[in-house]
Amino acid sequence: MAIVINEQNKTFTVSTKNSTYQMKVNCAGVLLHTYYGKKLGGEMDMSYSIKRDMVEDIPKYEAIKGDGQYSLVEVLPQELSCFGCGDYRDTALNLRHSDGSLGLQPIFHSVRTEKGKYNIPSLPAFYGDEGETLIVTLKDRVYDIFVHLYYGVFEETDVILRSMRIENKTDKPVTLEKALSLTLDFNYSEFDLITFYGRWASERDVQRVPVEHGSVQGFSTRGASGHIINPSCILCEREANEEYGNAYGFAFVYSGSFLISASKNYNNNARIVIGINPENFSFELSPNDIFCTPEVAMTFSSCGFSKISHNFHKAIRNNLCRGQYKTARRPVLINNWEGTYFDFNADKLVSMAKDASELGVEMLVLDDGWFGKRNDDHTSLGDWYANENKLGCSLSELAERINETGMKFGIWFEPECISEDSDLYRAHPDYAFKMPGRKPTLYRQQLVLDMSRKEVRDNIFMQLCNILDNANISYIKWDFNRSITDLYSCELPKDKQGEIFHRYILGLYELLDRITSKYPNILFESCSSGGGRFDLGMHYYMPQAWVSDNTDPIDRLRIQGGTSFIYPVSRMGAHVSASPNHITGRITPLETRGLVAYFGTYGLELDINKMSSVEKEEIRRQIKEFKRFYELIQYGDYYRLISPYNANSLYCSWMVVKESEALLAVVKKQNRAKAADEVVRLKGLKHNAYYSINGEGKYLGEALMSLGLPIWTDNGDYTSKLYYIKQII
Ligand code: DGJ
Repeated sequence: MAIVINEQNKTFTVSTKNSTYQMKVNCAGVLLHTYYGKKLGGEMDMSYSIKRDMVEDIPKYEAIKGDGQYSLVEVLPQELSCFGCGDYRDTALNLRHSDGSLGLQPIFHSVRTEKGKYNIPSLPAFYGDEGETLIVTLKDRVYDIFVHLYYGVFEETDVILRSMRIENKTDKPVTLEKALSLTLDFNYSEFDLITFYGRWASERDVQRVPVEHGSVQGFSTRGASGHIINPSCILCEREANEEYGNAYGFAFVYSGSFLISASKNYNNNARIVIGINPENFSFELSPNDIFCTPEVAMTFSSCGFSKISHNFHKAIRNNLCRGQYKTARRPVLINNWEGTYFDFNADKLVSMAKDASELGVEMLVLDDGWFGKRNDDHTSLGDWYANENKLGCSLSELAERINETGMKFGIWFEPECISEDSDLYRAHPDYAFKMPGRKPTLYRQQLVLDMSRKEVRDNIFMQLCNILDNANISYIKWDFNRSITDLYSCELPKDKQGEIFHRYILGLYELLDRITSKYPNILFESCSSGGGRFDLGMHYYMPQAWVSDNTDPIDRLRIQGGTSFIYPVSRMGAHVSASPNHITGRITPLETRGLVAYFGTYGLELDINKMSSVEKEEIRRQIKEFKRFYELIQYGDYYRLISPYNANSLYCSWMVVKESEALLAVVKKQNRAKAADEVVRLKGLKHNAYYSINGEGKYLGEALMSLGLPIWTDNGDYTSKLYYIKQII
């Protein structure tokens, strides 16, 4: 049983295979957070661990009189922290009542469990009948405002989901000013916060900083989760590393503006809050309305970061990813973007398809520039009809011609944006976000459509259906190439403009739901100027996402390596591109470009017609090898062995392990004359089993893991090597 409700001492305990999470109703009805960490063998009320001075503080605040005025004291560990009644730390919830007063004092009301993992109306969420749900309801001490705390539990993967529903049972409207999804308090504070930061072409670098007095934050205010900080993080003890120490992983299932804030208070207690960014957020709740927050996925590991990754990877693959491509092998594709940019026609694409098909590629994806009159990025977003003059034929004819080469056909859209130079904009200038009296800010010469409006979504939906119903399309790349500015919706009254960011995301999810349900056989890949919206919200609708516009394999060591802390390889769009690389100018061996792309979806992003026959043979070999190792790579446990940031090593190395097989990848990130071999300690093997390496030798698993394996790659810059490790006894 994953959830135990103890009526006597009023504790609610959630257990997974390796972790325990507990809360307790105290004598004044306040829901305290008492524990999250390593699994507890027995059943125990963990409130004993609340520090003495905190408990002694309580009488000072007239807490135990039981007749009402309990001050939450800013040091008590709270399961839900609210603004307004004594908790001065980062809080998760704030609400303006109909009389204008601000704040809440939630007191325990009831508790219940449900079979299966809960869903969230209109929002993406983990799913699964094997899960369980705990719902704890709190009620404001004065007003009929109810807060239902939802906990979804996946025992096997150690993942707990948390979200809340705020219900207005008063007879007047109230306004949410802040509705974060998670508060997590600790009676301890020596933590580091690891976040994944970056920018365009350099997403999800790893940053580790101590949580000191004050707070450490990661956030987005751009209406999308963005390139700058990913909506995920790890909070860990100071000495924690890949396989040692207590660590907590968090990933927000949301694609809009967010806030992660980790802080330490004067009593040396740490707190982390995660949720929708309260900046530019408010939401009115009419009587009987319910506001659902998105959910935060969290997992605990007492043995470092690898386990955090394994837990998330499994849960994301099994309980978030949906549709046939959750399990079916994804086609190896060639995307024409870096091969041609805007300069193509049907003959060129068919010629690429022919060459690619002969090498084992299975799909051609036509990127930006096929619609309206688009030959550069100044025009035509919003006009989703084929540019037949440019192509030289209709889209359905092009799809047929591609299909005749034995390939599937996929296509690029940027449905959420609009060019000023488009028929759609000329007909409906009000569809784009614009503030009254101001010229809207252009990014990449384009504006953002107001997806909070149904009329706008319907227009785009109809246009997409028109394309999808008339051509044989097997894949969609759903791009979004700018952040949101000029936030103003002409459909909302002035006192509700704070709702737009969230309504935009709700609108986007509604559109994604409609389109993915109508076309269940299409493979969707999310993209946002590369990896600008690489979050679990998008993942619910689209099984894969373009990791970065930077396809340089050496930069990708950091980008994919950072991404791997939270997200599985099966989500990472990764392609082999031309050398020198278009963004970095770096020259790298084709073998290395292939090896790095294996640990993603593997595809091509170049003009295959320009490749030599030797290069084409190498691509043929790679596709064969990738297909051979597909299951192992996509579903194996992923271990980071030598970090790309390790200045003491010339290499970066990682491996995947699945049952009796493993694949070890080694990439030389820096060349040096007469470099000595390095030794890498493998992970995840069976201690007493024997293995062969690339078909040779007999190595004890224990030895490979404790003594290690000497590694090297061929002479030359950026060379790489793949070691196939197979259990033989
Ligand atoms: C940004 C994407 O990340 C690229 O792959 C490409 O699709 C361009 N947009 C096209 O405009």
